[in-house]
Amino acid sequence: MPLVPPYIESLRPYEAGRTIESVRRQYGLTRIVKLASNENPLGASPKAIEAMTRSLAGLNLYPNGGLDLRQVLADEFELKVDNVIAGSGSEGIMSNIIRAFLCDEDEVLTTEAAFIGFQVLARSRGITYRTVPYRDWHYDLEALASQINEHTKIIYLANPNNPTGTIFTRHQFDEFYRHVPERVLIILDEAYFEYARDNARYPDSMQYRYDNVITLRTFSKAYGLAGARIGYGFAHEELIRNLLKVKLPFEPSTPAQAAGIAALADHEFLHRSLELNARGLRFLTEELQNLGMMVVPSQANFLMTVLPTEEDASRTFEELLAQGVVVRPLKAFGLPNCLRVSTGTDEDNRFCVEAWGRVNAKNIGAVGAG
Ligand SMILES: Cc1ncc(COP(=O)(O)O)c(C=O)c1O
Repeated sequence: MPLVPPYIESLRPYEAGRTIESVRRQYGLTRIVKLASNENPLGASPKAIEAMTRSLAGLNLYPNGGLDLRQVLADEFELKVDNVIAGSGSEGIMSNIIRAFLCDEDEVLTTEAAFIGFQVLARSRGITYRTVPYRDWHYDLEALASQINEHTKIIYLANPNNPTGTIFTRHQFDEFYRHVPERVLIILDEAYFEYARDNARYPDSMQYRYDNVITLRTFSKAYGLAGARIGYGFAHEELIRNLLKVKLPFEPSTPAQAAGIAALADHEFLHRSLELNARGLRFLTEELQNLGMMVVPSQANFLMTVLPTEEDASRTFEELLAQGVVVRPLKAFGLPNCLRVSTGTDEDNRFCVEAWGRVNAKNIGAVGAG
């Protein structure tokens, strides 16, 4: 038996988007716009920063496992604390779910090219990971339902989805749910919930709780706290009780929890973030389409463009990089001919479109509508 299991040896580690510093070093540029990791271009809520700073006075003490935040969330959503978990980002909770509920013979079912963080976590468990293709860049819930078998243990659905930015509706979910046995756990990843919640077609999963569904949300996106690592989940108390057994007892950290609680109360910051994003999404969609790009309409804080070939995508990525614009190539997700662009400030978005225009003009005929 080798020291490293074959499924770990063959695992492709999570690759984060390029950092501003590494691009600056490579190209010697003064202005770099990073639109690669779906971060909040406004920074973090000032109230969250203030609360986090205040919390530093208690840094010598161990945290309370997110209990304060769980209580605040329980009050806000009219649940019991026992229905809420807080962790080091929603990915931290995802990793607990995988650890708590998957046995060796179990299978995970999701869409092809699902959120890379989930792919890496699930594959690292050495179980069978099965996918069905997208239909028109949306989850094919019908096909997913038809693939459920006696080994299926977890179904992962992100709504809105990363990297496509698309959503499924309440009706589509209900239709799908009718085919899901109770012994199957659905992870409903709502990392981009806040951006989609005003869309009448978007279902708020807090309005339809099912015992085998765990909803995951995060402070990393609309609340601008990606660096703090703070996320949360809602589920039946039996699920939460078992998740808490495997969660590292002192996650989330005290400053992260303080930031989360304060961010939740900062409605003004959230409102500004959502407004900026809606404007940015409209602008980037229209302008990239004007440049002949195929853009998948998005409900999140990023959009996906589909290029004719993998070469077109990697050349466009490299040439944008050379102009100081960092977008996300999606080869690691499983979509080698696609690029993902996060919304930035209005200036960032303009800078991106101008650079993209220069790149396309240079490659005229080579890169275009896909
Ligand atoms: C769909 C989805 N889920 C979860 C996450 C991770 O969020 P967190 O920072 O809370 O771990 C991301 C981050 O990009 C995401 O896109």
